[in-house]
Amino acid sequence: MRDIETVAETFRTARGFDSSPLYRQLLTVVANDEALLGLAARTRHGQQPTFALFGAVHYLLLRGAPDALAEYYPSVVGDSARPFDRNTGRAFMRFCDAYSAQITSILGTRLVQTNHVQRAVVLRLGLALLRQVTSAPVCVVEVGCSAGLNLRADRYAFTVGSAAFGDPTSPVHIQVEVPDAGLLPDLDQLPDVADVVGIDLAPPDIADDDDRAWLRALVWPENSHQAAQLQAAMEVVAADPPRVRGGNAIEVGPKVAATLPPGLPRLVVHTATRIHVPAEDRPAFDAAVASFGVHGPMLHLALEDDQRTAPSGRPGVGLTATDAAGSRTIAVADGHLAWLEPLPEMNDMVTGRGRRPGRRGRG
Ligand SMILES: C[S@@+](CC[C@H](N)C(=O)[O-])C[C@H]1O[C@@H](n2cnc3c(N)ncnc32)[C@H](O)[C@@H]1O
Repeated sequence: MRDIETVAETFRTARGFDSSPLYRQLLTVVANDEALLGLAARTRHGQQPTFALFGAVHYLLLRGAPDALAEYYPSVVGDSARPFDRNTGRAFMRFCDAYSAQITSILGTRLVQTNHVQRAVVLRLGLALLRQVTSAPVCVVEVGCSAGLNLRADRYAFTVGSAAFGDPTSPVHIQVEVPDAGLLPDLDQLPDVADVVGIDLAPPDIADDDDRAWLRALVWPENSHQAAQLQAAMEVVAADPPRVRGGNAIEVGPKVAATLPPGLPRLVVHTATRIHVPAEDRPAFDAAVASFGVHGPMLHLALEDDQRTAPSGRPGVGLTATDAAGSRTIAVADGHLAWLEPLPEMNDMVTGRGRRPGRRGRG
């Protein structure tokens, strides 16, 4: 069990909950209540207790737990949901007290596995960036892929800025607000894909009703569009699931890397994953990711907890690109990829200015 003061600090300082007015308010409720902090402290080591506790409560409400707290959840009662008021905090406390055994069990067994389909744009962007430097087929790896929904980025429709890309017939439509899409590569110019593989600690099984329910519960109560996107992507992926290796990337990563055809370029992506790796394991996690670059040129894109201010002034997280030319932040984005602001470093990759000489076309 975790130290209560550390958990309280996590709730006090949490960022990125902009799209959930309910959770934004509940963060303060939890941060100031000993019993709720004690419950949240049951979250598994390394996992973020904010997402885990809110997910566990949401899971029980969506599964039909009969409680007045549900009246505040648009995902349960729809448009008639009540806005946060002076009774919401007490209702949340009462619910957590009444269901503490179930919540403890969920926190002890489940992981924060929010598979946010909107983040598939990172993978697609990586493919388009690699196409700028190679005509060779590419191996795609997502570390911490959850149910693998983003590994099917080639099956989805995208509107990025005002431009449309991808499969316009797809039931999954991803819209990303981009103020200067001219800095991005053409997201329809992709290399051939030689192999696609995901790695996850415990990949959810989208054929399993309870795993699907957990993925749904991790979507915040107000985000009905995200819930619909999740549902549509689960259908697409269930029809043709990508290869996903279960296990800790620290052990499994180098083994998977050794199976990729030597010399072929590889795109390695992780989004909202490293933040859930215990701090003391992060150097080993980084080394496992780097192992993918040992036997072939690698582009590594990461969207994690690197808090940055976008050129427009809004707070977001940095999208980092690492390749033979080094590591740099190429965009600042909303953690859920509702928006993305490319930086000049992205344009340097597109135009070739940031590239190490002699790598074009070598694969
Ligand atoms: C918040 S989810 C993000 C899923 C996906 N990347 C996305 O953006 O939609 C984080 C995922 O990383 C996985 N994960 C965390 N630590 C891991 C590790 N050491 N090795 C492999 N997977 C890990 C978790 O199981 C979880 O499914």
